[in-house]
Amino acid sequence: MSAKISIIGAGMTGATTAHWLAERELADLVLVDIVEGMPQGKALDLLQCMPVIGKDVAIVGSNDYAATKGSDIVIITAGVPRKPGMSREDLLTTNAQIVQTATENALKESPDAIFVILTNPLDTMAYLSMKVGKLPPQRVVGQAGILDSARMRAFVALETGVSVENIACYVLGGHGDEMVPLTRHSNIAGIPLRDYLPADKLAAIVERTRKGGGEIVSLLKTSAYYAPAVAVAQMAEAILKDKHLIVPASAYLQGEYGLKDIFFGVPVQLGRSGVERIIEYTLDAEEKAALEKSAAAVKESIQVLHNLVKI
Ligand code: NAI
Ligand code: 2OP
Repeated sequence: MSAKISIIGAGMTGATTAHWLAERELADLVLVDIVEGMPQGKALDLLQCMPVIGKDVAIVGSNDYAATKGSDIVIITAGVPRKPGMSREDLLTTNAQIVQTATENALKESPDAIFVILTNPLDTMAYLSMKVGKLPPQRVVGQAGILDSARMRAFVALETGVSVENIACYVLGGHGDEMVPLTRHSNIAGIPLRDYLPADKLAAIVERTRKGGGEIVSLLKTSAYYAPAVAVAQMAEAILKDKHLIVPASAYLQGEYGLKDIFFGVPVQLGRSGVERIIEYTLDAEEKAALEKSAAAVKESIQVLHNLVKI
């Protein structure tokens, strides 16, 4: 296969991303981790699935970045996940070092790659990756919005009994508890969610969506991986197939939504060059205020990062 995707961090989200990607037969895959034998073992196990599902995908695991040479996309999932009681921000100090190393090492082997970041705190880690890699903004994108919106869609489907295919939801803002589920823009088969559901039910869905990651951490004792991984796979597919797909994702803002020098969840159009375009919704005063609150939390996190790393 001609395209190549490398996944740095072969833990729960990394290996599951490889699984979803292999199913799509998009590209050859490389898993890299610092744990000896683990990425090799997981890659071999996945490789042995290919005859069963009938997909011709080469999958290798390694502890050496040399294996990632010439990747079209580098996905960074390396880092520690949350434990119960922790916020995503609690991971910043540890994960900043890991994401910096991963970006620098991967970039040496794949100077033209597009970087998709998953490691938390997501918006801050995407910012770090772009800055340490001195990458153009369109080549770095963070995954959060597809996941958060999918959670909201799943909760709406549970509440209404309507097919998930009919449900469109849009969650913007930072990937934290201040994220902004846009109920005015969300709909069921074109019917605004606000008209379909009573206000109390909708408010409960918004609240559950905001806390969706934490709900899973409290059950699993680690963070979610199936849905985050399939969201990353959707982004990688949109990029490699040059789909011009509009999804909510974390992108570098340079004045859009009144924000500058920040990675933040907004609707972006993904294609072969990465983030092709940032779409600006027309927002009402309430939505603007909610996004400003969320942006303040991300800016605070980026400030902590600036105190840790010279970028
Ligand atoms: P995990 O612990 O299962 O896997 C992380 C892997 O990274 C481990 O295998 C570890 O050995 C590896 N690693 C650590 N340092 C490394 C380095 N320097 N180079 C290469 N590999 C290294 O954790 P999981 O569940 O996969 O989560 C990974 C990250 O993704 C966490 O920060 C988590 O919070 C974040 N996450 C983000 C989501 C999002 O929507 N943005 C959703 C789910 C998780
Ligand atoms: C999530 O939202 C932990 O960010 C991760 O599941």
